[in-house]
Amino acid sequence: MGRVQVNIRQMRKKLILLGVVAAYVFLFAACSDDHESTPAPYFYIPAGFPDPVYQFQNNEVTDAGFALGKKLFYDPLLSRDSTIACGSCHQQFVAFAHSDHRLSHGVDNLLGTRNSPGLFNIAWFPNFMWDGGVNHLEVQPLAPIANPVEMDESMANVIVKLKRSSFYPTMYKAAFGTDTITTQATMRAMAQFMGSMISANSKYDKYVNGKTSITANELNGLQVFRAKCESCHKEPLLTDMSFRNNGLDQSFANDPGRAKITTLPQDSGLFRVPSLRNIALTFPYMHDGRFKTLMDVLNHYDSGIQMSSTLDPLLTSGSIPLTLQEKNDVISFLNILTDYSFIQNNRFKE
Ligand code: HEC
Ligand code: HEC
Repeated sequence: MGRVQVNIRQMRKKLILLGVVAAYVFLFAACSDDHESTPAPYFYIPAGFPDPVYQFQNNEVTDAGFALGKKLFYDPLLSRDSTIACGSCHQQFVAFAHSDHRLSHGVDNLLGTRNSPGLFNIAWFPNFMWDGGVNHLEVQPLAPIANPVEMDESMANVIVKLKRSSFYPTMYKAAFGTDTITTQATMRAMAQFMGSMISANSKYDKYVNGKTSITANELNGLQVFRAKCESCHKEPLLTDMSFRNNGLDQSFANDPGRAKITTLPQDSGLFRVPSLRNIALTFPYMHDGRFKTLMDVLNHYDSGIQMSSTLDPLLTSGSIPLTLQEKNDVISFLNILTDYSFIQNNRFKE
């Protein structure tokens, strides 16, 4: 009897020990699983997002391609006098807009005519620029490179400079299997880098995906936004990608907007509806950076809308009326569109 009891006690001990070991193994396996999934894929479709416009199947993002695109993005060699990189006007800490610049500054400190937009989720954009003048991500970089007030350089000369470099040929070879440096390979590498800039992890996203709650003011702001702004700034991208005149001016002599591309009079003063993600970071606002603060923007919609022949039909009443409380709440809501993990993501750091 005594011996049997001892055996049972020992067996129990062994079983408990086994259980503890099993639990450790299980936990360890679960943790290391987590670690394995950490280099997150470069490109993915966030919950609730539609299919992207850019076809990554034809230009799959690789470590080497992304690294090359990033190197090019931050390299002033792409400008005439090697002073300006893409990253000079598109800075990560402000969601790749140009911090506190009304209009862009290029080579020789020349002033552009438009405000640098933030860069994120552009794989979902059917066209680029405030007037939609560029319609493919793989030709987009050609515009700022050639623009006399931005980088003022010819692509042919960029290629000459890249070929002369001590490391670019190796990087092209790693990315595309050949060290022959071409415009197409250059554009594809930059598309891999820029197309991977995904911003979908703001407090607003966590709220929409049921992962966090928001304050009463933020919620009221969201409701006002959905009632009064959503028709143009459509979720989840916070733009419907259309071109519209939101009543900034009575005439469009300074910048005809969309009509610059189409030459149609009915497109005068129309600009692409901007995404409002990360909007608290990307001031000043509008295509020409005319408004410093979000309150200025809301005052415009409430009491500053200018009548003109192409004013958007949704705004012809002349105002989106907003009380002071509503303005403050909408601003609280716009503030939760900031995606801190995006602006801090080491992957995109210079
Ligand atoms: C001198 C400042 C400046 C430089 C340098 C610059 N950009 Fe821009 N970028 C702008 C401005 C301003 C716009 C908006 C232009 C417009 O609407 O006409 C823009 C627009 C864009 C857009 C379109 C975004 C959208 O929402 O449609 C992309 C993409 C972009 N730039 C990428 C680049 C790349 C890649 C480079 C380097 C090859 C570059 N930029 C260099 C100022 C700059
Ligand atoms: C009729 C369509 C429409 C409606 C409704 C609308 N917007 Fe806009 N919004 C636009 C367009 C178009 C622009 C860009 C205009 C430009 O720069 O010429 C813009 C620009 C903005 C900007 C500046 C973005 C930037 O990157 O500079 C903010 C902020 C903004 N809108 C917020 C709002 C809010 C908040 C509401 C609701 C109170 C609202 N909008 C309603 C069409 C609209």
